[in-house]
Amino acid sequence: MSLLNSASGYGGLTKALHWLIAGMFAFQYAAGAVMTRMAPSGMALGLPQSAWYNWHKSIGLVALTIALVRLANRRLGELPPWAPTLVDGEKRFIHRAEQLMYAAMLAMPVSGFVYVMAGGYGVHLFGHWHLPNPIGEWPLLASAAKLVHLIGAIALALAVLGHVGLVLRHQLLLRDGLLHRMLPRRNRTP
Ligand code: HEM
Ligand code: HEM
Repeated sequence: MSLLNSASGYGGLTKALHWLIAGMFAFQYAAGAVMTRMAPSGMALGLPQSAWYNWHKSIGLVALTIALVRLANRRLGELPPWAPTLVDGEKRFIHRAEQLMYAAMLAMPVSGFVYVMAGGYGVHLFGHWHLPNPIGEWPLLASAAKLVHLIGAIALALAVLGHVGLVLRHQLLLRDGLLHRMLPRRNRTP
């Protein structure tokens, strides 16, 4: 398997970044659900609410860096040809869902960052470094960014559900091995 995408399939870099982002976003949704629903003085899995917020903010900012690398990799490199078992309607859906997922990979961390900075909450990165606040307190901007963050979370969840649903339909019902295009060491085009 080569590092970069080629005519025979996705490269190792695309695959590694894809699964890294998928894992980080799964964590972000889980942490987002836990921290916004727990009592401020409570504990969840041995961690206080402040630690959940810290982990959510810190992992979210690392995810932003990885998303930028991923976007550059996608923009600068080539794309493998479509899987031959996809029909035209599915290609259109995949194209739109991928646009939405890439937009959300940037909009989610940026809106989260703007929300906590304009809201005056700040970021204590991994509990070690207080990041400077480049925005200053700005309540109206904080409310707008929070709204973008919440609506973005719903839109991204729908796009990912559609994306995973399409892959699983091909993998489990049509049995054409679509999932293998994104798995290590196998560039088998179905
Ligand atoms: C990288 C991708 C990110 C994803 C997918 C994500 C997702 C989410 C989700 C699903 C929620 C819970 C919404 C709810 O149920 O009310 C949430 C809440 C929140 N997120 Fe993020 N987030 C990301 C990045 C960030 C970043 C980078 C920050 C800040 C630096 C941040 C700050 C927050 C805060 C403060 C809340 C709580 C909002 C509230 O009080 O209701 N997020 N996020
Ligand atoms: C269990 C979860 C997931 C599965 C099983 C999965 C599976 C796949 C597969 C098999 C492909 C290759 C499709 C093709 O043949 O072109 C793919 C591509 C892609 N996936 Fe996922 N995926 C998952 C989660 C995610 C998440 C969470 C995101 C984004 C937040 C995402 C974004 C993308 C994008 C943008 C592509 C196009 C290739 C690229 O530019 O990186 N996927 N996925």
